[in-house]
Amino acid sequence: MTAKLIDGNALARHIRSEVAQRVAALAEQGHRPGLAVILVGHNPASQVYVKHKVADCESVGMHSVLDRHPAELPEAELLARIRELNADPGIHGILVQLPLPAHIDANKVIETISPAKDVDGFHVASAGALMIGRAGFKACTPYGCMKMLESIGCDPRGKHAVVIGRSNIVGKPMAMLLLQANATVTVCHSATPDLAHHTRQADIVVAAVGKRNVLTADMVKPGAVVIDVGMNRNDEGKLCGDVDFDGVSKVAGWITPVPGGVGPMTRAMLLVNTIEAAELSTLAQG
Ligand code: GUN
Repeated sequence: MTAKLIDGNALARHIRSEVAQRVAALAEQGHRPGLAVILVGHNPASQVYVKHKVADCESVGMHSVLDRHPAELPEAELLARIRELNADPGIHGILVQLPLPAHIDANKVIETISPAKDVDGFHVASAGALMIGRAGFKACTPYGCMKMLESIGCDPRGKHAVVIGRSNIVGKPMAMLLLQANATVTVCHSATPDLAHHTRQADIVVAAVGKRNVLTADMVKPGAVVIDVGMNRNDEGKLCGDVDFDGVSKVAGWITPVPGGVGPMTRAMLLVNTIEAAELSTLAQG
Protein backbone atom coordinates (compact mmCIF):
# COMPACT_ATOMS: atom_id res chain seq x y z
CA MET A 1 0.00 0.00 0.00
CA THR A 2 1.16 3.53 -0.69
CA ALA A 3 -0.26 6.08 1.71
CA LYS A 4 -2.04 9.18 0.49
CA LEU A 5 -0.50 12.46 1.55
CA ILE A 6 -2.33 14.90 3.82
CA ASP A 7 -1.19 18.20 2.34
CA GLY A 8 -0.81 20.63 5.25
CA ASN A 9 0.22 23.49 2.98
CA ALA A 10 -2.93 23.25 0.86
CA LEU A 11 -5.23 22.90 3.86
CA ALA A 12 -3.53 25.80 5.67
CA ARG A 13 -3.95 27.97 2.55
CA HIS A 14 -7.66 27.18 2.53
CA ILE A 15 -7.98 27.99 6.25
CA ARG A 16 -6.07 31.27 5.79
CA SER A 17 -8.48 32.30 3.03
CA GLU A 18 -11.41 31.65 5.38
CA VAL A 19 -9.70 33.68 8.12
CA ALA A 20 -9.06 36.52 5.64
CA GLN A 21 -12.80 36.65 4.91
CA ARG A 22 -13.57 36.87 8.63
CA VAL A 23 -10.95 39.62 9.03
CA ALA A 24 -12.62 41.53 6.18
CA ALA A 25 -16.04 41.12 7.80
CA LEU A 26 -14.71 42.58 11.08
CA ALA A 27 -13.03 45.40 9.15
CA GLU A 28 -16.44 46.36 7.75
CA GLN A 29 -17.56 46.88 11.34
CA GLY A 30 -14.50 49.00 12.01
CA HIS A 31 -12.45 46.39 13.91
CA ARG A 32 -8.99 45.04 13.12
CA PRO A 33 -7.81 41.84 14.81
CA GLY A 34 -4.36 42.13 16.38
CA LEU A 35 -1.81 39.57 17.54
CA ALA A 36 1.17 40.34 19.78
CA VAL A 37 4.12 37.97 19.45
CA ILE A 38 6.74 38.17 22.18
CA LEU A 39 10.24 36.83 21.60
CA VAL A 40 12.83 36.80 24.38
CA GLY A 41 16.42 36.03 23.38
CA HIS A 42 17.94 34.80 20.14
CA ASN A 43 16.97 31.15 19.74
CA PRO A 44 17.43 30.70 15.96
CA ALA A 45 14.42 28.40 15.49
CA SER A 46 12.21 30.76 17.52
CA GLN A 47 13.32 33.71 15.37
CA VAL A 48 12.17 31.87 12.25
CA TYR A 49 8.86 30.84 13.86
CA VAL A 50 7.95 34.35 14.99
CA LYS A 51 8.85 35.81 11.61
CA HIS A 52 6.44 33.36 9.98
CA LYS A 53 3.70 34.15 12.48
CA VAL A 54 3.96 37.88 11.80
CA ALA A 55 4.00 37.30 8.02
CA ASP A 56 0.92 35.06 8.34
CA CYS A 57 -0.95 37.87 10.10
CA GLU A 58 -0.08 40.24 7.31
CA SER A 59 -1.23 37.73 4.68
CA VAL A 60 -4.78 37.69 6.13
CA GLY A 61 -4.97 41.41 6.91
CA MET A 62 -4.44 41.16 10.66
CA HIS A 63 -2.47 43.65 12.68
CA SER A 64 0.56 42.21 14.47
CA VAL A 65 3.17 43.43 16.91
CA LEU A 66 6.51 41.70 17.22
CA ASP A 67 7.94 42.41 20.63
CA ARG A 68 11.62 41.46 20.75
CA HIS A 69 13.50 41.45 24.04
CA PRO A 70 17.08 40.63 25.00
CA ALA A 71 17.74 37.25 26.65
CA GLU A 72 18.54 39.06 29.92
CA LEU A 73 15.04 40.58 30.21
CA PRO A 74 13.98 40.34 33.87
CA GLU A 75 10.92 38.16 34.40
CA ALA A 76 9.06 41.01 36.12
CA GLU A 77 9.46 43.19 33.02
CA LEU A 78 8.08 40.47 30.79
CA LEU A 79 5.08 40.04 33.10
CA ALA A 80 4.52 43.81 33.09
CA ARG A 81 4.59 43.87 29.29
CA ILE A 82 2.04 41.05 29.14
CA ARG A 83 -0.27 42.95 31.53
CA GLU A 84 0.03 45.99 29.28
CA LEU A 85 -0.97 43.88 26.25
CA ASN A 86 -3.83 42.29 28.25
CA ALA A 87 -5.24 45.81 28.66
CA ASP A 88 -4.63 46.89 25.03
CA PRO A 89 -7.96 46.88 23.12
CA GLY A 90 -6.12 46.66 19.77
CA ILE A 91 -4.54 43.33 20.73
CA HIS A 92 -6.77 40.23 20.74
CA GLY A 93 -4.15 37.50 20.96
CA ILE A 94 -0.88 37.26 22.89
CA LEU A 95 1.76 34.65 22.15
CA VAL A 96 5.00 34.28 24.07
CA GLN A 97 7.36 32.17 22.00
CA LEU A 98 8.77 29.20 23.89
CA PRO A 99 11.33 28.18 25.05
CA LEU A 100 12.11 31.10 27.35
CA PRO A 101 15.53 31.72 28.93
CA ALA A 102 16.14 29.63 32.08
CA HIS A 103 15.71 32.53 34.52
CA ILE A 104 12.09 33.04 33.43
CA ASP A 105 9.31 30.79 34.74
CA ALA A 106 7.30 29.86 31.64
CA ASN A 107 4.28 28.79 33.69
CA LYS A 108 4.14 32.14 35.44
CA VAL A 109 4.38 33.90 32.07
CA ILE A 110 1.60 31.83 30.50
CA GLU A 111 -0.65 32.32 33.54
CA THR A 112 -0.23 36.10 33.23
CA ILE A 113 -1.76 36.12 29.74
CA SER A 114 -5.47 36.88 29.90
CA PRO A 115 -7.37 33.65 29.04
CA ALA A 116 -9.43 35.76 26.59
CA LYS A 117 -6.19 36.45 24.64
CA ASP A 118 -4.55 33.03 25.11
CA VAL A 119 -4.45 32.14 21.41
CA ASP A 120 -1.76 29.50 22.01
CA GLY A 121 -4.22 27.65 24.27
CA PHE A 122 -1.52 27.07 26.90
CA HIS A 123 -3.15 28.81 29.90
CA VAL A 124 -4.51 26.49 32.63
CA ALA A 125 -7.94 27.98 31.94
CA SER A 126 -7.70 26.89 28.28
CA ALA A 127 -6.26 23.46 29.16
CA GLY A 128 -8.92 22.99 31.86
CA ALA A 129 -11.74 24.01 29.49
CA LEU A 130 -10.53 21.42 26.99
CA MET A 131 -10.35 18.78 29.74
CA ILE A 132 -14.01 19.25 30.73
CA GLY A 133 -15.35 19.94 27.24
CA ARG A 134 -16.00 23.65 27.67
CA ALA A 135 -15.35 26.41 25.14
CA GLY A 136 -11.79 27.72 25.15
CA PHE A 137 -8.79 28.16 22.91
CA LYS A 138 -7.34 24.89 21.69
CA ALA A 139 -3.57 24.47 21.41
CA CYS A 140 -2.74 25.17 17.77
CA THR A 141 -0.83 22.01 16.84
CA PRO A 142 -3.40 19.47 18.08
CA TYR A 143 -6.20 21.67 16.73
CA GLY A 144 -4.46 21.58 13.33
CA CYS A 145 -4.11 17.79 13.53
CA MET A 146 -7.86 17.47 14.14
CA LYS A 147 -8.52 19.66 11.08
CA MET A 148 -6.26 17.37 9.04
CA LEU A 149 -8.28 14.32 10.10
CA GLU A 150 -11.50 16.14 9.22
CA SER A 151 -10.09 17.11 5.81
CA ILE A 152 -9.69 13.45 4.81
CA GLY A 153 -13.10 12.47 6.21
CA CYS A 154 -11.58 10.58 9.15
CA ASP A 155 -14.08 10.71 12.02
CA PRO A 156 -12.29 9.55 15.19
CA ARG A 157 -15.54 8.19 16.71
CA GLY A 158 -15.08 4.53 17.62
CA LYS A 159 -11.49 4.49 16.36
CA HIS A 160 -8.43 3.63 18.38
CA ALA A 161 -6.04 6.59 18.46
CA VAL A 162 -2.53 6.30 19.83
CA VAL A 163 -0.72 9.50 20.78
CA ILE A 164 3.03 9.17 21.26
CA GLY A 165 4.20 11.94 23.57
CA ARG A 166 2.62 13.65 26.57
CA SER A 167 3.74 17.27 26.39
CA ASN A 168 1.41 20.02 27.56
CA ILE A 169 1.70 21.65 24.13
CA VAL A 170 0.87 18.66 21.93
CA GLY A 171 0.47 15.18 23.46
CA LYS A 172 -1.98 15.93 26.27
CA PRO A 173 -4.28 18.35 24.39
CA MET A 174 -4.17 16.01 21.36
CA ALA A 175 -5.39 13.13 23.52
CA MET A 176 -8.18 15.34 24.92
CA LEU A 177 -9.36 16.47 21.49
CA LEU A 178 -9.42 12.89 20.19
CA LEU A 179 -11.31 11.78 23.30
CA GLN A 180 -13.80 14.59 22.82
CA ALA A 181 -14.24 13.33 19.25
CA ASN A 182 -15.16 9.90 20.69
CA ALA A 183 -11.97 8.01 19.89
CA THR A 184 -10.56 5.41 22.26
CA VAL A 185 -7.26 7.03 23.17
CA THR A 186 -3.98 5.56 24.34
CA VAL A 187 -1.18 7.93 25.34
CA CYS A 188 2.30 6.42 25.06
CA HIS A 189 5.49 8.04 26.36
CA SER A 190 9.11 7.44 27.28
CA ALA A 191 8.17 4.94 30.02
CA THR A 192 5.85 2.85 27.78
CA PRO A 193 7.56 -0.58 27.65
CA ASP A 194 6.28 -1.85 24.27
CA LEU A 195 5.32 1.07 22.05
CA ALA A 196 4.83 -1.11 18.95
CA HIS A 197 2.24 -3.23 20.78
CA HIS A 198 0.04 -0.13 21.07
CA THR A 199 0.73 1.51 17.72
CA ARG A 200 0.00 -1.73 15.81
CA GLN A 201 -3.59 -1.58 17.09
CA ALA A 202 -4.09 2.07 16.17
CA ASP A 203 -6.38 3.39 13.44
CA ILE A 204 -4.86 6.83 14.05
CA VAL A 205 -1.29 7.45 15.26
CA VAL A 206 -0.05 10.89 16.26
CA ALA A 207 3.72 11.01 16.79
CA ALA A 208 4.79 13.98 18.92
CA VAL A 209 8.07 13.07 20.55
CA GLY A 210 10.77 15.15 18.87
CA LYS A 211 12.94 12.15 17.92
CA ARG A 212 13.58 10.61 14.50
CA ASN A 213 12.25 7.17 13.54
CA VAL A 214 10.07 6.73 16.62
CA LEU A 215 7.50 5.11 14.33
CA THR A 216 8.64 2.58 11.73
CA ALA A 217 6.71 0.51 9.18
CA ASP A 218 6.59 -2.63 11.36
CA MET A 219 4.77 -0.62 14.06
CA VAL A 220 1.84 0.49 11.89
CA LYS A 221 -1.44 -1.24 11.06
CA PRO A 222 -2.07 -1.32 7.29
CA GLY A 223 -4.34 1.57 6.29
CA ALA A 224 -3.82 3.60 9.49
CA VAL A 225 -3.76 7.40 9.48
CA VAL A 226 -0.34 8.65 10.61
CA ILE A 227 0.17 12.24 11.74
CA ASP A 228 3.75 13.35 12.26
CA VAL A 229 4.19 16.32 14.59
CA GLY A 230 7.98 15.91 14.84
CA MET A 231 10.38 18.55 13.63
CA ASN A 232 13.91 17.17 13.63
CA ARG A 233 17.04 17.26 11.48
CA ASN A 234 18.57 14.14 9.96
CA ASP A 235 22.35 13.51 9.63
CA GLU A 236 22.43 15.60 6.45
CA GLY A 237 20.72 18.49 8.26
CA LYS A 238 17.46 17.95 6.36
CA LEU A 239 14.17 18.58 8.15
CA CYS A 240 12.42 15.36 9.15
CA GLY A 241 9.69 14.22 11.51
CA ASP A 242 9.34 11.50 14.14
CA VAL A 243 8.09 8.99 11.57
CA ASP A 244 10.21 6.93 9.17
CA PHE A 245 8.30 8.42 6.25
CA ASP A 246 9.66 6.17 3.48
CA GLY A 247 8.88 2.97 5.38
CA VAL A 248 5.58 3.98 6.99
CA SER A 249 4.12 5.43 3.80
CA LYS A 250 4.22 1.91 2.31
CA VAL A 251 1.91 0.63 5.07
CA ALA A 252 -0.28 3.53 6.21
CA GLY A 253 -3.46 4.68 4.46
CA TRP A 254 -2.73 8.36 5.02
CA ILE A 255 0.38 10.18 6.19
CA THR A 256 1.48 13.78 6.79
CA PRO A 257 4.83 14.85 5.32
CA VAL A 258 7.53 16.85 7.11
CA PRO A 259 7.90 19.59 6.02
CA GLY A 260 4.49 20.57 4.60
CA GLY A 261 2.29 18.69 7.05
CA VAL A 262 1.49 19.72 10.61
CA GLY A 263 3.81 22.78 10.65
CA PRO A 264 1.76 25.01 8.34
CA MET A 265 -1.42 23.86 10.10
CA THR A 266 -0.12 24.99 13.51
CA ARG A 267 0.43 28.46 12.06
CA ALA A 268 -3.00 28.48 10.38
CA MET A 269 -4.76 27.55 13.62
CA LEU A 270 -3.05 30.42 15.43
CA LEU A 271 -4.80 32.73 12.96
CA VAL A 272 -8.10 30.93 13.56
CA ASN A 273 -7.74 31.37 17.34
CA THR A 274 -6.82 35.03 16.89
CA ILE A 275 -9.80 35.86 14.67
CA GLU A 276 -11.99 33.96 17.14
CA ALA A 277 -10.59 36.07 20.00
CA ALA A 278 -11.22 39.27 18.03
CA GLU A 279 -14.79 38.25 17.14
CA LEU A 280 -15.55 37.38 20.78
CA SER A 281 -14.11 40.69 21.96
CA THR A 282 -16.19 42.59 19.39
CA LEU A 283 -19.33 40.75 20.52
CA ALA A 284 -18.52 41.53 24.15
CA GLN A 285 -18.31 45.22 23.27
CA GLY A 286 -21.89 44.94 22.01
N1 GUN B 1 7.49 26.91 20.69
C1 GUN B 1 7.32 25.81 19.92
N2 GUN B 1 6.04 25.71 19.52
C2 GUN B 1 5.38 26.75 20.06
C3 GUN B 1 4.03 27.19 20.00
O1 GUN B 1 3.14 26.58 19.39
N3 GUN B 1 3.75 28.32 20.69
C4 GUN B 1 4.69 28.99 21.39
N4 GUN B 1 4.31 30.08 22.05
N5 GUN B 1 5.94 28.62 21.47
C5 GUN B 1 6.28 27.50 20.80
